Amino acid sequence: MSEISILVLHGPNLNLLGLREPEIYGSATLTEINRALELDSKKLQVSVDCLQSNCEGVLVDAIHKARTKYQGIIINAGAYTHTSVAIRDAVVGVAIPTVEVHLSNIYTREEFRHHSYIAPVAIGQISGFGADSYHLGLQALVNYLRSYLTVKKSAS
Ligand code: DQA
Repeated sequence: MSEISILVLHGPNLNLLGLREPEIYGSATLTEINRALELDSKKLQVSVDCLQSNCEGVLVDAIHKARTKYQGIIINAGAYTHTSVAIRDAVVGVAIPTVEVHLSNIYTREEFRHHSYIAPVAIGQISGFGADSYHLGLQALVNYLRSYLTVKKSAS
């Protein structure tokens, strides 16, 4: 088994990718994005599990359960990014390094999308590269975890 396991969470309406506003979100479906992450994970020698939900509570529960199984989280919380104190609190509560990703550049869109409740508690945010945001997010998270785990090992 690989040393690092990552949980990828997709929030509301991301199950509609491919159909949903392709001029904003691109033509890749969620299945295609998850498949690409699976390929990336093999190259990076980590394991990845993906979950999509339209329900805030399901995402909160998944973050809680991640505590015993995953070293890192990638989250595209969709519209909950801009509304959910509960998801933010869950990320803080489990203290698992988390990268926030968005397909679109949320800062060039409507003003209500400019604020993220998650960004201040994430290690970083990647926004605006379409499906590549996930790929970049995974690479960045794995690099972060590898250096973090090395520092932790050499300190003990
Ligand atoms: C999104 C941006 C959000 O503002 C929006 O509500 C989404 C998708 C993105 O990936 O660009 O559902 O998170």
